Amino acid sequence: MTEKQSIIIDTDPGQDDAIAILLALASPELDVLGITAVAGNVPLKLTETNIRKICELAEMPHVKVYAGSDKPMKRQLFTAEYVHGETGLNGVQLPEPNMPLQKQHAVDFIIETVLSHPEKSVTLCTLGPLTNIGHALVKTPEIVPRIKELVMMGGGLFEGGNVTPAAEFNIYVDPDAAKLVFDSGIPIVVMPLDVTHKALTTRTRISAFRALGTKVGKASAGWLDFFERFDEEKYGTDGGPLHDPNVIAYLLEPKIYSGRHINVEIETESELTVGMTVADYWNVTEKPKNAIWITDLEADGFFDLILNRLAKFT
Ligand code: RIB
Ligand code: CA
Repeated sequence: MTEKQSIIIDTDPGQDDAIAILLALASPELDVLGITAVAGNVPLKLTETNIRKICELAEMPHVKVYAGSDKPMKRQLFTAEYVHGETGLNGVQLPEPNMPLQKQHAVDFIIETVLSHPEKSVTLCTLGPLTNIGHALVKTPEIVPRIKELVMMGGGLFEGGNVTPAAEFNIYVDPDAAKLVFDSGIPIVVMPLDVTHKALTTRTRISAFRALGTKVGKASAGWLDFFERFDEEKYGTDGGPLHDPNVIAYLLEPKIYSGRHINVEIETESELTVGMTVADYWNVTEKPKNAIWITDLEADGFFDLILNRLAKFT
């Protein structure tokens, strides 16, 4: 077997984050060095608790979980209970976690881990606002050349935004952190709405999760039933977009994705378009290409991967 990929997952669970975390924990190709919480879908106290609930659902209480930033670098926190519900994991009742929250701050864990592991061996997987990464870059810019890759869910071009016509949630919440990341020189792979809107949790696909008959299968179906109702109504589609698991699936089966290397800059000033990923897909500016922008996937292959991996859990 090829060498495991060492990853840190930075996340704001969120039902789709939960599926992504379970996919990572179920995959032997990945060595999850730690999971760091950031404020986003719901406040930090809930996102760090939700990560621990998800790890205990997976019967993996040894996973190291860290709390990070409780608000964006400059802007006020904007949360998404209107999509994810008050707990962030509505759709399933899970017990309060017993496993510990690590004492170290998430930003310091990210910095220490990147500095202590071999150069270019750690991949950052971000599923929420980029606040923790932004702080890490400000505090210790020397981590930039040591990071193997940053694979993120965020942004949109052909699909526009989902919070404003211009901005997708993860970037909208903390555009200043996103600007630091896209300007940093870290190798970036972006899973924007352009691709996640092609990964729809149809009734058939959700039924397949439920048919696993396991705790994890039933929880996944319950989360998706709840979480996707908002987007199904908004877009009038059979199923809603499953965003965050695409970050993990890309590490496991990159060949199901396609995109192109382009220049991406972040709008941080205009009140009308703040949080917009200005993605130069047609290279009209000829600015340096700083991100691989994914636009397509094999949706059946994506859902088959998730189902087959989650089937390992009880
Ligand atoms: O816009 C979708 C993103 O915002 C996903 O990461 C979802 O979990 C929310 O955080
Ligand atoms: Ca998320």
